[in-house]
Amino acid sequence: MRGKYYISVLDLGKEETLEVLEIARHYKVERKAGKRKNEILNGKIWAILFEKPSLRTRVTFEVAIRELGGETFYLSPSDVGLGKREPVKDVARNLERWVDGVFMRVFDHRVFYDFKRYSPNLSVINALSDLEHPCQALADFQTMIEITGDLGFHLAFIGDGNNVANSLMLMSALLGSDFTIACPEGYEPPKEIMDKALEIAKRTGSQIDLVRDPKIAVSRADFIYTDVWASMGQEAEAETRRKAFQGYQVNDELLKSAPEHAKIMHCLPAHRGEEITDDVIESERSLVFVQAENRLHTIKALLSFLSQ
Ligand code: CP
Ligand code: NVA
Repeated sequence: MRGKYYISVLDLGKEETLEVLEIARHYKVERKAGKRKNEILNGKIWAILFEKPSLRTRVTFEVAIRELGGETFYLSPSDVGLGKREPVKDVARNLERWVDGVFMRVFDHRVFYDFKRYSPNLSVINALSDLEHPCQALADFQTMIEITGDLGFHLAFIGDGNNVANSLMLMSALLGSDFTIACPEGYEPPKEIMDKALEIAKRTGSQIDLVRDPKIAVSRADFIYTDVWASMGQEAEAETRRKAFQGYQVNDELLKSAPEHAKIMHCLPAHRGEEITDDVIESERSLVFVQAENRLHTIKALLSFLSQ
């Protein structure tokens, strides 16, 4: 596996994404039956380079690589100092000479463009950036498809137009599902991502909407998704954001406007009492730990797909 990328949801087409989700379904069945290991990665070595903390993304990647017969090592922010201790393009050209792939969690999405340009033989997977969280979207689509059996669902995202919202919106557009985001003014997804999603949606028949009123967003939702109001790196804005997002909490009152069958989703970690109440996240409607489990099956599937 050399020079394969999954930096944006749009790095794979519709059929390729569906193939990854099918492999993930297969891995989940196999794992439940006790079969965990294969040798698809055949000793390949991946660096994990994270500028931010992580539980789910790091652990599922580490487990996935081991179960697929590869190896990993972890580089913390202070080990590398991406763009500080040395330029990103130098880090890329060094790593390319030693490892097969790099799984990166970064503040600035543009770091990936330097890696693509300067280390074209290195495989790169986005473990979260300011713009996207494509591996999360894969797990979330596996979760939703498990429930509905198809892609004809409506996903309502309540809150910040952030990395998780962006990847979910792009994947909805790509796969033909409907997506509505309800967010306050000034917290919309970036215009270029919204425009891209709308353009793709014209082809796939997906309906993509942005509304202000969370009640309107959830009124025909099959899935109601939220994420933190202040993402990693935005801690200084937490108080301003708390004020801006008043009225955007996923709670019992909001759920009165949603269909009874609507399920609740969150990528975790959650700030209970802010974007979602403890009651709702702990309710029977909540899928949060299924999503977390599916992070493992989908990252195994993605690595397997990219190894072909
Ligand atoms: N959902 C998610 O990416 O969790 P971590 O930040 O713990 O990896
Ligand atoms: N939007 C959140 C997602 C964490 C998985 C963040 O970037 O902090």
